[in-house]
Amino acid sequence: MSRIEPTIDIRVTEWIEQLSERFGKTGVVFDLADWLGYFAYDMIAELAFGEPLGFVTRGVDVNQLIKKFHDMAPFAGFVAALPWIAKIFTSNPLGRYIFMPKPGDNTGTGQIMAYRDHLLKDRFENPMEGVHNDVLQSLLCATHKDGTKITMDEVKAESFVLMVAATDTVSAFMNPMIIFVLLNQEVYRKLMAEITEFETTGKLSPGVPTYQELQDMPYFQACVKETLRHSPSAPTILPRIVSEGGEELNGMYAPAGAEVAANAWVTNRHPEVYGKDSMEWRPERWLDCDEQHSKMMERFLHTFGYGQRSCLGKHMAKMETQKICMQFFRAFIPSFTNLERPFVTENWSMQIYWDVLMTIKPRVKE
Ligand code: HEM
Repeated sequence: MSRIEPTIDIRVTEWIEQLSERFGKTGVVFDLADWLGYFAYDMIAELAFGEPLGFVTRGVDVNQLIKKFHDMAPFAGFVAALPWIAKIFTSNPLGRYIFMPKPGDNTGTGQIMAYRDHLLKDRFENPMEGVHNDVLQSLLCATHKDGTKITMDEVKAESFVLMVAATDTVSAFMNPMIIFVLLNQEVYRKLMAEITEFETTGKLSPGVPTYQELQDMPYFQACVKETLRHSPSAPTILPRIVSEGGEELNGMYAPAGAEVAANAWVTNRHPEVYGKDSMEWRPERWLDCDEQHSKMMERFLHTFGYGQRSCLGKHMAKMETQKICMQFFRAFIPSFTNLERPFVTENWSMQIYWDVLMTIKPRVKE
């Protein structure tokens, strides 16, 4: 993880500079959700394909990529939650031809596939061996356990998963983290007091703080955990098939082959674990309890999935999202422009946010 920290710091700094120039100095209203999306998409483009796509420097949805992802989200969510229905339509060549998206077709998925293929073609035409140090290069050099080389279809599938897994999930954490802190003025006051104390005592680096420094801030971490709990990025069922021998689940027997699933939005609100007020966003729940209870609440958090197929990008996600939120609060004093409707959000199997309209002023450090 320490290898990618400097790359993350460069992108965080660039994002703050752009916001400062475009909105901090001018007072122009902007949509925070758009800008958090620009950051998330540039970040994964750099780590996966070697360079950012220019969302942040240009301040636009490059090639309407974010829109295309959002067009694809309902279909992707449906297939992820109910794979057996999708199988009915796709288990024969004709069904696959009719129902499965293809690179370049008019669906959001087809458009993303075409974009991925364009990036792969570009890499093949300009390999510059030894220069690239990104996920794509690692995939292209990867081999199976038996030593055979990974196929091009596998490279395509893996890079597609990465593009889907590491973009809107990240936005869907950063949006509610900033929104809920700002909507709860007492929380905002406590968080800013902690930030100021850490700055004045030299416990936060002046540029982008290190990830380790952020772990030492108890109130900030309580806000992070409460957002992960209350607003999971993928509030949907993530099915698993019970393996040979069946499984005893909470007093009920699930036979081999049965499909079982849990939705993080539900499990993260279990009142016996998180309290009777589990519907509320309240960071204090992580501080007002003993260490044992806090560890138990953390253990049951389902936001990154569970077990062998849980999120592979969890640590990177935590690093980039915590850094961006912290730097946003350190650099600016934000105000919503419409307090009656400060944001809009919908669950498309991925939680999507928009219309987070605000102005920002530079924060003068105490
Ligand atoms: C806050 C941000 C993120 C959240 C909440 C999140 C959440 C999830 C969830 C719920 C799953 C499915 C787990 C399951 O089925 O049990 C998943 C899978 C995955 N995530 Fe993330 N994710 C985030 C960011 C990222 C990032 C930044 C990356 C890549 C750098 C990433 C890479 C992956 C991959 C590759 C998988 C598939 C794992 C597999 O099938 O074995 N995720 N993520």
